[in-house]
Amino acid sequence: KITDYLCKYKDYIFAVGVTTAEYIDSLQNFEIRDTDVFLVTYPKSGTVWTQQIVALICESDFRDSALYPNNLERMPWLEYLEGRPDYSLRPSPRLFASHLTPALMPPGLRDKKAKIIYVMRNPKDNVVSYYHFCNAWKYLETPNSFDEFLQQYLVGQVGAASWFDHVRVWYSQRKQYDILFLTYEDMIMDLRSAVQQISHFLGRDLDEADINRVVEKATFKNMKTDPKANYEFLPEELLNRDKSLFLRKGTIGDWKNTFTVKQTEMFDRIYRERMGDLPLKFIWE
Ligand code: PPS
Repeated sequence: KITDYLCKYKDYIFAVGVTTAEYIDSLQNFEIRDTDVFLVTYPKSGTVWTQQIVALICESDFRDSALYPNNLERMPWLEYLEGRPDYSLRPSPRLFASHLTPALMPPGLRDKKAKIIYVMRNPKDNVVSYYHFCNAWKYLETPNSFDEFLQQYLVGQVGAASWFDHVRVWYSQRKQYDILFLTYEDMIMDLRSAVQQISHFLGRDLDEADINRVVEKATFKNMKTDPKANYEFLPEELLNRDKSLFLRKGTIGDWKNTFTVKQTEMFDRIYRERMGDLPLKFIWE
């Protein structure tokens, strides 16, 4: 345990109460199907957004039915214990979200069985989004200040550990997986082409009209009022809605409203040191 809220397990840090080391360990025996689809992210990188897109693509009725489950039920986080059904009973294709590192994922995912969509976000907007989330989410400690949270983020003492390590380890092991890398910023700049890319990757090329329907249902504005996608179905004890929401701002460049000049200089220097050798490019504003 590193704080009352966080627990380190191998190269990962999980929020106490959300899962356990034993459960994460048990995923080493989790049976993967070739048809499984995993969405993997560092927290606050566009998970619930991509969850909506993937769920819409994989369902030909586009969730019009009132009986259709919400996105958390449709695409649960693999590592979370709460309300976990027996996944072996699920019909294919099974959809999962996860924030785990490759070392903790079911080994059956390697050798290109199953598909992974990895979404990453520029880390300045990521840390700002994460900071707001910590103020609202029961299982995370409320930071005393943005500066304090930023320091913890930079040394990887936050839930899911270091952003830098997460992106690096998934990127450097990409050849072992059938994996599509997307950035949050690409999705903001051109949602339609992101939806097309995802549907093509999943082997479900949709026609024009269906692509349009998915795009329409995945805009920030429409998702915010979509009760199956906006996560407001979560109980008040888990999420303090007065503090923040899952769909908060949904923009590129909010970091500029938060970072001081000094924080920006320090961040840029650390970013260069830690990520400079990778060919990854982010849009920052
Ligand atoms: S979590 O807790 O890890 O699942 O959070 P995650 O979903 O990864 O990240 C939340 C941020 O994604 C933004 N979001 C969107 N942006 C644009 N368009 C759509 N449709 C959308 N849906 C979610 C959400 O607003 C959070 O970012 P911030 O910057 O906090 O607004």
